[in-house]
Amino acid sequence: MKPLTHKQLDDLADALLLRIRKKTGVPIPREKLTAGLKIDLPTLDAAVKLLASCDYRIRASRKTITYVSAPDSLTATEISFGLKTEKFGRTVYAHNSVKSTNDIALALADDGAPEGTIVTAEQQTRGRGRLGRSWFSPAGVNVYISIILRPKFQPEQAPALSIIAAVALADTVSEFVPGDVRIKWPNDLMIGRRKTAGILTELSAEKGKINHVVAGIGINVNQGVGSFPEDIRDSATSLRRAVKRKINRVELVQKFLARFEKEYKTYCRYGLRKQLPRIRKYSYLIGKTISVKSGRIKLSGKAIDIDVQGRLVIDTGSEQTHLSAGEVTIVKE
Ligand code: BTN
Repeated sequence: MKPLTHKQLDDLADALLLRIRKKTGVPIPREKLTAGLKIDLPTLDAAVKLLASCDYRIRASRKTITYVSAPDSLTATEISFGLKTEKFGRTVYAHNSVKSTNDIALALADDGAPEGTIVTAEQQTRGRGRLGRSWFSPAGVNVYISIILRPKFQPEQAPALSIIAAVALADTVSEFVPGDVRIKWPNDLMIGRRKTAGILTELSAEKGKINHVVAGIGINVNQGVGSFPEDIRDSATSLRRAVKRKINRVELVQKFLARFEKEYKTYCRYGLRKQLPRIRKYSYLIGKTISVKSGRIKLSGKAIDIDVQGRLVIDTGSEQTHLSAGEVTIVKE
């Protein structure tokens, strides 16, 4: 066989991976693989070597190849393999280090990327949070993902997409951390009293029409307790800290994408009506005395509900106010 280009070898490694990972732990005769892929033995070795260099664990003997396990990395190949969605995650831009996945997704969306396109990164150097804050985004341990949405509804319905993402995330995280998962309105995910994930939704609209929405989600997954910066050490946590074991990030992302797609479709069709019971069930705030800053407005009172538009309902003592955005501080549990 004549030597392969990098791209050909890469494609071949993908094809090989598809074949061997279907039979995890089972030795597959080399001849079967070379015949199936129409390659010679040295080329098979080169493809195995390439996969091994990407941290796939593969046992190669003189006669057989055995797939052992995948690396813990958010590559396009890993995210796509076994993904159960129609659109979400069907186009993947998986990066190693970027400034912000939301910035990249916004640019892709401007260039016409299809709905469901995702951008992920192993690390962000300028991860952005809500209200102009930064999002701590160290390498290789967490999930940083942005999803491009192109809903057909009015721009006024876009803010609730954060809550929709939060519900999908709450359901997903509950699978890994049973019990104490809550949504601190509008879109912080809490485990116990600490924040484990945040959502930054950014909208582009013109003349009353949505161009696109980018939903950016940061999840502290395998972050060690001691490695949070000092200012958030007491208020932040990770899934790993909660369950005391390492979580598979690819599995988490795939499950989240499937749930988010389902919730998104439901919201596009019915509004929040169907999801409201779960939104209320997950609420971290209902029943608590809080103060909220929403733009220039500052309010205190009891959080009593979340309404069908996803707004927080506060009883200030003299009236009931419905807020569509804000920064909440808990005054009394
Ligand atoms: C918050 O709680 O303030 C929202 C945090 C959102 C962080 C995510 S990480 C992926 C995406 N890219 C960003 O720059 N921000 C969001």
